[in-house]
Amino acid sequence: MKHFLFIGLGQYHFDLKIEHYKDTRFRKLNEKWLSDEKWKIWSCDPKYYSDEDLQKIKESNWIDCFIQKNICEKWNNVPLFDEWDCTSVLAHVNYDDHEIFFESLIKKIKHDSVGHIHIDLSDHQTETMELLKDPNYASKYYDYHDGKYDVYLNRVTEEKWIEIIDRYFTYHREPVVCKKHRVKLVNVRLKK
Ligand SMILES: C[S@@+](CC[C@H](N)C(=O)[O-])C[C@H]1O[C@@H](n2cnc3c(N)ncnc32)[C@H](O)[C@@H]1O
Repeated sequence: MKHFLFIGLGQYHFDLKIEHYKDTRFRKLNEKWLSDEKWKIWSCDPKYYSDEDLQKIKESNWIDCFIQKNICEKWNNVPLFDEWDCTSVLAHVNYDDHEIFFESLIKKIKHDSVGHIHIDLSDHQTETMELLKDPNYASKYYDYHDGKYDVYLNRVTEEKWIEIIDRYFTYHREPVVCKKHRVKLVNVRLKK
């Protein structure tokens, strides 16, 4: 049995539909889920979810196990992961967690695991970083402990993220042809 970790479930992919398969990540995840003898798909997110959302996640057509916790927390009885995806998550990682995010991730993955990292460094409204100049803009983060949720955004610079990622991983950086300020790293592997 192999294990896949989809970090930061968010709100939009409780159940995968045909239109989601345009995104190859989801098509491959669905293939893994269907071949359930070989792969178990896990997802995590410390976000607040209503009971209705949690029921949908339970009935999801691609997630086998959901962990409603921050990746920086200790997880019990969870195997080491063979593959992982961290797309559009780092933009939302609480500033206090940014250093320990990867320290915690590497404790949760196998030595030869392979991952994928995508960071949208924009302010998520203007496709630039303009609104982030306001210190109050998207500066709060709540989670399930608070019983509420708000979007927290990008208080860590691209240079800082790359410096932290370089400590632990090798990867291929893909050129991004898009207005938004993005970082896309594929074939992310632990340094030997
Ligand atoms: C934009 S959504 C996720 C999108 C999704 N990964 C995708 O590929 O479509 C970002 C999510 O990351 C979650 N997140 C933020 N910090 C996290 C952490 N430390 N561990 C796990 N999830 C986190 C947020 O709660 C939020 O729901």
